[in-house]
Amino acid sequence: MFDVLVRSVPSRTSLRYLRSFNRVPSLVRDLSSVTAEDVTHFSKILSPSCVLSTFPPSSAPVEELANFNSDWMGKYKGASTTVLKPKNTQQVSEILKWCWERRIGVVPQGGNTGLVGGSVPVNDEVILSLRNMNNIRSFDPVSGILVTDAGCILESLTEFIAPHRHIMPLDLGAKGSCMIGGNVSTNAGGLRLLRYGSLHGSVLGLEVVLPDGTVMNQLSTLRKDNTGYDLKQLFIGAEGTLGVVTGVSILTAAAPEASNNVILVLRDFKDVLPLYQIVKQHLSEILSAFEFIDKGAYDLATKHGQGRALDDSDVEGAGCFVLVETSGGKREHDEEKLNELLESLLSADKPLITTGVLSQSPAQFSSLWALREGVTEAVSKEGKAYKYDISIPLSAFKDVVDATREHLRKKGLMRDDAVKHVIGYGHVGDGNLHLNVVAQTYSKEIESALEPFVYELVESYRGSISAEHGVGVMKTHALHYTKDAVSIEWMKKIKELFDERGIMNPGKVIV
Ligand code: FAD
Ligand code: MLT
Ligand code: ZN
Repeated sequence: MFDVLVRSVPSRTSLRYLRSFNRVPSLVRDLSSVTAEDVTHFSKILSPSCVLSTFPPSSAPVEELANFNSDWMGKYKGASTTVLKPKNTQQVSEILKWCWERRIGVVPQGGNTGLVGGSVPVNDEVILSLRNMNNIRSFDPVSGILVTDAGCILESLTEFIAPHRHIMPLDLGAKGSCMIGGNVSTNAGGLRLLRYGSLHGSVLGLEVVLPDGTVMNQLSTLRKDNTGYDLKQLFIGAEGTLGVVTGVSILTAAAPEASNNVILVLRDFKDVLPLYQIVKQHLSEILSAFEFIDKGAYDLATKHGQGRALDDSDVEGAGCFVLVETSGGKREHDEEKLNELLESLLSADKPLITTGVLSQSPAQFSSLWALREGVTEAVSKEGKAYKYDISIPLSAFKDVVDATREHLRKKGLMRDDAVKHVIGYGHVGDGNLHLNVVAQTYSKEIESALEPFVYELVESYRGSISAEHGVGVMKTHALHYTKDAVSIEWMKKIKELFDERGIMNPGKVIV
């Protein structure tokens, strides 16, 4: 979990070392390590450029594997010796068949932007990268149904359907790197969930290679199909623990004619809730996002050049900010509604906002979004982040951030050389707070101060320890704060049913 550098092919001792830091659960079964014989076999399935291994015939230096072995935050490190980059479903099937027989662990990897350590090995599992599976299979501009390989980058899909006047039903800050198969496998939420709902609704079908190499073709393009159990739902959010998603059929949305956004500045967090009610009522069908950043998150975003800072006079006395986006069918109508909303908010007897900054051009539109979307990037530039992605009642957002900061202060950890900031931001419309503790470095002391403290806090609100990022390796031990024992038992049974040999993404989600 910490900065463990993988310098050479790990010996048994160094594997144990990694294991202790990566908190590998005891139930991870004994799996085989990749051998030269395995790599020779993989090299028969794939062309040479698609096999990256420290073993012959590839014989790549270990440094070449470093990016695949390390997650986006630099928090989780694996020790894989072999990365395979299949180009089609048949190749994925043959790889899994071999790994199943040999009991080799397999970690599916998309854009490697996951934030819970799910996309990197806990030991020396094979990394199965989907990056070479990037063909769009079909798009129907009438229905808006897109069928695509799992390795297509989200932003490329957005660009592909734009001329057909459609948009993807999800959008996230990682859009330039994350892949649709990764999005499905994490059930990513993001910035449009308020408007277009979750992937459990918009994904119409999946093609999945099961752990033993069998291909399950559920790549339906039907909106309605009530023929019994909806198996694809199991793979949405399974984080690669049940199989490899190779194809995705997804319902895209008609592109809005006009989009506007505004940043509302609030003195006090307590006004966010009533503000949300008013904004919802006033904007109704054109409201497409209602996102929140506290002052600490805003300061980090602007410090690290994410979006243009608002004028000092607008920020004076600010406690937090809300970004409202509208997406509708007629620009004049939407602008009129937004302006009316602003006027009524500012002229109220007890205004909930101190000011509002409305974008006037596409560049300003992007800049306002960057203030919110760019927080993740800013946090990673500022230090090492402990990221808690939680569902709690909206009214508790600030209390949870404040309680965490106070707890760390009492422990003597709110110091520049330990914890630098505790900030909150997130998706108000979805009840999803991102509580980020930004530290100078990852340390056992900080982690023990935060856990189980944060999870117990979430449990006290009957919330979820993972609203949208998933469980990965980070939260396997904490599932019980959100799920009851019976649910966890059935999750284990489902895992066992699909993957009795435990080769798929070992040590993740359910152990
Ligand atoms: P990876 O990180 O490669 O993998 C994630 C998990 O899915 C792993 O467990 C992996 O094994 C599994 N997996 C990947 N591909 C497959 C496949 N084809 N078959 C089976 N399993 C697979 N998340 C949100 O929900 N909302 C946000 O708003 C959001 N914003 C982000 C902003 C930034 C800047 C960053 C860095 C991350 C953000 N994330 C967000 C987290 C992350 O981007 C998402 O979880 C994303 O969906 C992961 O996609 P990926 O292709 O990078 O998957
Ligand atoms: C976001 O909403 O910005 C993402 O989920 C990423 C993060 O939590 O930092
Ligand atoms: Zn988020």
